[in-house]
Amino acid sequence: MALEPTRDDQFSFGLWTVGWPAADPFGAATRPPIDPVESIHRLSELGAYGITFHDDDVVPFEVGLSDAAERDRILGRLRTALDETGMSVPMVTTNLFTHPVFKEGAFTANDRGVRRFALRKAFRQLQLGAELGARTFVMWGGREGTEVDAAKDLGAALERYREAVDLLTTYITEQGLDMRIAIEPKPNEPRGDILLPTVGHAIAFTYTLEHPHLVGVNPEVGHEQMSNLNFTHGIAQALAQEKLFHVDLNGQNGPKFDQDLIFGHGNVLSAFSTVDLLENGFPGGGPTYDGPRHFDYKPLRVEDVDGVWESARANMRTYLALKERAAAFRADPRVQEALATAKVTELAQPTLGEGETLADLAADRSAFEDFDAEKAGSYGYGHVALAQLALEHLLGVGA
Ligand code: GCO
Ligand code: MN
Ligand code: MN
Repeated sequence: MALEPTRDDQFSFGLWTVGWPAADPFGAATRPPIDPVESIHRLSELGAYGITFHDDDVVPFEVGLSDAAERDRILGRLRTALDETGMSVPMVTTNLFTHPVFKEGAFTANDRGVRRFALRKAFRQLQLGAELGARTFVMWGGREGTEVDAAKDLGAALERYREAVDLLTTYITEQGLDMRIAIEPKPNEPRGDILLPTVGHAIAFTYTLEHPHLVGVNPEVGHEQMSNLNFTHGIAQALAQEKLFHVDLNGQNGPKFDQDLIFGHGNVLSAFSTVDLLENGFPGGGPTYDGPRHFDYKPLRVEDVDGVWESARANMRTYLALKERAAAFRADPRVQEALATAKVTELAQPTLGEGETLADLAADRSAFEDFDAEKAGSYGYGHVALAQLALEHLLGVGA
């Protein structure tokens, strides 16, 4: 099986992923920083089609604030690397979490000055992203939260969050930018509790906004799994509601700190169903995902720089392997049979018949009085067989 990525696979990487020097709360960096220009060339050679970045990943915070000439020079180098490689920038995002100014929040900071500063920083990155052709602006609110419930007016915080997103979409609309916003939920870390903690919270929030069609979600595998939630179910709801604007793929082993492992190096059965959904859509049809396959992971702290590129490659190879396995799973006649036994395809059929009314249903004796509930409750759905077929396809055995 050839697992060589090409640009058509639409694999993208955050510059902060491969570029992470691996300092953690308990230890110093174990690797030197990597020049973004080097990352662009290496990722391009490995078969990725794009890179994404926070403003501060490319232009240091202090330079961005006070040295316009140096900012231009750095961005010039970035543009040259993109031109030389043909790499694209499908998404950008803003760092509103590293500098101490954001320790109490950014768009939902109690200090109004901090909120205005955060907005200006985000507007500038939105503008740069648009210039570079990005179609998605990710908002991950790592510092938007609390450790102490009484320290935040939660109602006001959600109002200010709404105000911030509304201002960003107003800017997009007024400037005629081809850009949409994707909110990235996370339950905790770095804050004790983060606002909009899950995909469900974030999707509900989007409907309270001024331009709901411009705002969707960027779910991350590990973030849902930190809350013990099913990631595939999360992106399925986002997809069904046309809110899946972007996706952060990585690996996680259950509810614990955010591991940011290589994609598939955690719950691999879940990774299989995730790729199956992204590639093959719902069995009964419906909206499909056509956006970047974006990796947001951390190369293990024990790796050296060679290990960084090995890990980038591993993400893409895992995805391609799962894509191949998922296609074989769907094409297997035994799977089709198992899906029929489980009545999976029957679910796409509306519960009322065409033209049938509520009164018709109420009058239909076969639906209730004559319905054989004993019989309907007695047959098996064959889920074990289906699960085993998925597992054997995943392992590449038993065909
Ligand atoms: C995390 C997040 C971030 C965001 C990134 C983009 O847990 O640290 O996943 O990596 O994805 O900041 O906004
Ligand atoms: Mn993460
Ligand atoms: Mn992420």
